[in-house]
Amino acid sequence: MTGPEAIARLHRGMTRQGPGTPEDVRWALARLDVGARARIADAGCGPGADLAALARARPGARIEGVEMMDHLVAEARAACAGLENVTVRQGDMAGLTGPYDLIWCAGALYFLGVTEGLRQWRGALAPGGAVAFSEPVLEEDAPGAARAFWAEYPAISDLAGIEERVRAAGFAVLDHRRVAGAAWAGYYRELEGRLDALSADPEAAGEGPLADLVAATRREIALWQAVPEAVSYALVLVRPEPGGR
Ligand SMILES: C[S@@+](CC[C@H](N)C(=O)[O-])C[C@H]1O[C@@H](n2cnc3c(N)ncnc32)[C@H](O)[C@@H]1O
Repeated sequence: MTGPEAIARLHRGMTRQGPGTPEDVRWALARLDVGARARIADAGCGPGADLAALARARPGARIEGVEMMDHLVAEARAACAGLENVTVRQGDMAGLTGPYDLIWCAGALYFLGVTEGLRQWRGALAPGGAVAFSEPVLEEDAPGAARAFWAEYPAISDLAGIEERVRAAGFAVLDHRRVAGAAWAGYYRELEGRLDALSADPEAAGEGPLADLVAATRREIALWQAVPEAVSYALVLVRPEPGGR
């Protein structure tokens, strides 16, 4: 089993691949005044929880999920069965063409880099269009356990650092809010369920990619449990600056 196969096995059947709630989606739609017939992309949609939330909040909108991994495309399509305003395609979110009134991106922009991804998406936004993305954030006075939690994400910064990366792409921040607490608790509850389900699997014990991943995930959850309010994403709403890069 390869590393990516181990990740797919651990996460199989989960409704999300990272923290977030339907309330985050509704907040962004309202704050950005996204219209009833908007064209919306969910970039890196994973198994599609936010696609369903977007579709329910804007039943007249046209919503497109874009996801790199075939098995997640299949899961997202299943999650959105019966939601006629949703399509899901396998593809690279770096190549979005649009035009979209909103690009929603939960916990996935870091794969491209905030500045690089926003630069690539500028041309995919319709006039007046916006991007809503969630990104790890670590405040200056964060406790050691929160720093240890993010040790493998060296690009992490405080909110001012995220704003700098946004500005470097020629975008402006309109608003933000923290994604912490319940959103992470829900995600880890599901993940612990998967760890328990795998406990009888010989490949999840001993040595190998799945066993390593199981151990690393248990460490990650323990670090989060030590400081649950200090581990968060920032959900950031941004628009291109007129004449920006
Ligand atoms: C942490 S998961 C978040 C998934 C989903 N947004 C959620 O909140 O449940 C990041 C997702 O981005 C996808 N991804 C990463 N790079 C991508 C790319 N270049 N194009 C499309 N999807 C990508 C991954 O396959 C994964 O499903």
